Amino acid sequence: MRKLRKAVIPVAGLGTRFLPATKSMPKEMLTVVDKPILHYAVEEAYEAGIEHFVLVTGRNKSAIEDYFDMQPELLAMLEKSGKSAQLELLRDLQPRAGSISYTRQQSPEGLGHAVWCARDIVGDEPFALLLPDMVSFGDRGCLAQIVETYNSTGGNVIAVENCAPHETDQYGIVGRGAEIGTGFQITEMVEKPAPGVAPSNMYINGRYILQPEIFDILGSQTRGAGNEIQLTDAMARLMAKQAFYGRQFNGRMFDCGSKLGFIQANIAFALQRPELRNSVMEGIRSLVEPDGMLTGT
Ligand code: UTP
Repeated sequence: MRKLRKAVIPVAGLGTRFLPATKSMPKEMLTVVDKPILHYAVEEAYEAGIEHFVLVTGRNKSAIEDYFDMQPELLAMLEKSGKSAQLELLRDLQPRAGSISYTRQQSPEGLGHAVWCARDIVGDEPFALLLPDMVSFGDRGCLAQIVETYNSTGGNVIAVENCAPHETDQYGIVGRGAEIGTGFQITEMVEKPAPGVAPSNMYINGRYILQPEIFDILGSQTRGAGNEIQLTDAMARLMAKQAFYGRQFNGRMFDCGSKLGFIQANIAFALQRPELRNSVMEGIRSLVEPDGMLTGT
């Protein structure tokens, strides 16, 4: 089995669901509490043992490269003013020199196309794929969980969660086969099936381990839903040649590309922080309690 060392993180989308915020700021830099959502994905990947990151960026995304760069003036200022906690925070965030590569998707032609843009940097080895607007919440990151499954099954591994049966037409859905260790065999994959014809209510939640053979398939993939190059369509073709396994994520993924998911993530992560928990609870209560400010709105 080939060792997993690299992660691809596509950040070239337009983020139209979050306009106007995303007009001049990358969606992936929206903050949950005090960190950009992209930072959560990078931390999750480190936890899973990833050594090299491939960020697929696009126009108007330079804030992302700046975020992971060194800022000597800021560090010097923090040092001079004795702000050692903030100094340490920034030093911890700093990736090892050479451990992040950037490539550009020249136009946002879909997730499958963004992944294909990483082919030369990934080369002939398996890679993890993290959609950064899906933010993992729980004791153990979602990627670490599917890496555990991958270490016993090999092949391609996808994390899944359950959606309400009437919501299958919003997601990529998998069919469930035989149980294998911590996972199960995937029998089929369908993009946004109508409720009633969907093979299950298990949806692909934005964390994958894929074999490099996906790149050749993506290179010849025709446009699918939304006139975009769809990753799910390419994975369905790869399934004819290679095994795919699913793993139910023990935790919760917040879809921070949607307004509701983003707001829920902010509340969940704030409540998890000991220094914020009580004041956030109190703040929410003061808005919604019977004589609160928002009662009746
Ligand atoms: P989304 O479909 O959630 O992102 O893609 P989007 O297209 O930017 O969002 P909306 O629907 O317009 O609001 C998931 C991830 O894949 C990246 C996005 O940046 C996001 O991190 N992506 C998507 C690309 O890099 N390129 C694409 O062509 C599409």
